[in-house]
Amino acid sequence: MPTDAIHPFAYDAFQRRAIDAIDRNISLFVAAPTGAGKTVLADYVIEQTLARRQRVIYTAPVKALSNQKFRDFTAHHGDQVGIMTGDVTINPTAPLVIMTTEIYRNTLLEGVERLARYAWIIFDEIHYLDDPERGTVWEEAILFTPPHINLLCLSATIPNVEELARWIRDVHQRPVEVIEEAHRPVPLTTLFQCQNTVVKDLEELRKAGYRGRDDWARLSHRYRYGHHRPMARANRLHALVEHLRDAEHLPCIFFTFGRRRAEDLAWEAAGLSLLSPDERATLQATFVDLCERFQLSKDRTAQALGQLLDRGVAYHHAGMLPTMKEVIERCFTSRLLKFIVTTETFALGINMPARSVVLDTLKKRSGGGYALLRRREFLQMAGRAGRRGMDDAGFVYLRINPQHVAFSEVQQLLTAKPEPVHSRFNAAYATLLNLYRHHGPSLVEFFPHTLYYFQTSGARRQAGLDLMQRKLDLLTAMGYLSGTTLTAKGEFGSWMYGHELLLAELQARQQLAGLGPLPLAVLMTAIVYEPRPATPPPKSHRLSKQLAQLCAEPLLRIHKEETRFRVSPKSKAPAFHLSHAMDLWMQNAPFAALTKHCDADEGEIVRYFRMAVQLLRQLMRAPGDDELLRANAEKALRRINRDVVDAEAQLRLG
Ligand SMILES: Nc1ncnc2c1ncn2[C@@H]1O[C@H](COP(=O)(O)OP(=O)(O)OP(=O)(O)O)[C@@H](O)[C@H]1O
Ligand SMILES: [Mg+2]
Repeated sequence: MPTDAIHPFAYDAFQRRAIDAIDRNISLFVAAPTGAGKTVLADYVIEQTLARRQRVIYTAPVKALSNQKFRDFTAHHGDQVGIMTGDVTINPTAPLVIMTTEIYRNTLLEGVERLARYAWIIFDEIHYLDDPERGTVWEEAILFTPPHINLLCLSATIPNVEELARWIRDVHQRPVEVIEEAHRPVPLTTLFQCQNTVVKDLEELRKAGYRGRDDWARLSHRYRYGHHRPMARANRLHALVEHLRDAEHLPCIFFTFGRRRAEDLAWEAAGLSLLSPDERATLQATFVDLCERFQLSKDRTAQALGQLLDRGVAYHHAGMLPTMKEVIERCFTSRLLKFIVTTETFALGINMPARSVVLDTLKKRSGGGYALLRRREFLQMAGRAGRRGMDDAGFVYLRINPQHVAFSEVQQLLTAKPEPVHSRFNAAYATLLNLYRHHGPSLVEFFPHTLYYFQTSGARRQAGLDLMQRKLDLLTAMGYLSGTTLTAKGEFGSWMYGHELLLAELQARQQLAGLGPLPLAVLMTAIVYEPRPATPPPKSHRLSKQLAQLCAEPLLRIHKEETRFRVSPKSKAPAFHLSHAMDLWMQNAPFAALTKHCDADEGEIVRYFRMAVQLLRQLMRAPGDDELLRANAEKALRRINRDVVDAEAQLRLG
């Protein structure tokens, strides 16, 4: 067996059990803690499959992870590797293709025959099934995987793995082995910063931090008008960073919520220098080299980060340019960067070696107020501490303000069972349209195969079926379905995942074909853009008004029908916040000029422009004889997809 050639270490017992199932060609579901060595199993499947001259698909939930995997796999397997993420298509017919789960699901719906020669599908981080918005995509992807493709499902620790496996066994009538590992190979120690002191266990936290009182919030309330209101001493960042340095617990990932706060904290931490002169020189050289490679040398953020890096500190969040984020990620992987302040997205999958993790707070904004983190979110972040092969131990620091978090809540977060994965099934119109094309009205027969059905009963189960039926009724009422097949409008809509109704209505009214490349680009951007809470209204732009008018009547009709058929959430209205930015970009302006013209961060602008590109691609691929629309979409795409917006260029530069 060529196993020892793939990895330089001996496999753990759980990995050996998994490998045994893989060798027997049996699908499997593996749940293990963060960093235990699940992705190693993906490597194994890939190696074996390619050796047998068969094909394999690897799916990941976030593009940063897909890109990292593309690089890793390419290093081993050269041009046998391809990638399709919506942003990027390289070598799509390669024997190993990395896909986003969305693209895999779409391929299943559009033409499963294209997957005839694939032997395995790997779902990394499959607990995404539980994501309120995207979870349905995982459910559909599993459900529609054909019998000849084996599944390797890799999940963080969840309590109901056996149930999920039973669902797959049931619907596919195939064996699925379950392998669960509870043990974390690198032990984790939890510490607390409270009253500006680092305390080492819960008992000490209760006594010294909480002064023996559980809920300070209630106490504070009672003392509001008195003079004895207890006040906690503020936790100082420098005190914590000094502790981490002296205890040799660096490098550290510091998780916080909010982009501005991440930046502010990084600057504050940079008051201390965490590097020796040698380390500083090496890190600066690495950084300068990476900035050159990603064409960021003149970028303002790069210059600011250069100063932080000089102290061994950086920040990382979704508002930054994707190329800038990648530079920081690589500096961190080098282990010379000692302290990175980041938001939650950093917790996912990418292999980032840290010795310690800090959670700035245990509560985050949720709905109107603040809610305690979920146990699974906590584990995902905490699990980043202590990398196998690099550290003997990992350390998690929780920053506690007793006025904001009760002692019992701290206990709960540390000891609760992770939340089970629940179905989020809510098939998009495009999914239903694609299924209707193949199955006609009998498509509803697949409902009993969903995880949703499997996990519910009685009224809830019926509610799920009813919602799907009402969506089909809406599609019939609006002229997307006719008899046992799709109308031309339905056919067009089936290609427009996520924005199917508005685009199909506009197209049916012949309103897309009349748009030149610029208005088309501005409209696509408005369709994908979702303003963050508290974003001010958009500045006016000549095209915004005209395009908003164009959408008004179709949107009204859509919302009326969605109300009538009680479908929610309702189709999103276009939001024209990025019109100026897109206008400038289409006129070849430098990227740095755009941020002045909108209330979005650089990273957001790139993300939405890339999404607009994706939508334009869908327009180009949609069936129909509208050559003018196709030509204009292509022109728009060419002009948008350049420089930092071009995801493929980023991948190739690296
Ligand atoms: N049996 C092993 N012996 C030694 N090192 C291992 C072993 N298995 C995995 N590793 C190493 O541990 C690290 C983490 O492995 P891997 O990325 O597969 O974990 P994971 O469970 O997928 O983590 P995540 O939750 O971050 O996705 C890698 O550097 C890997 O090479
Ligand atoms: Mg992994």
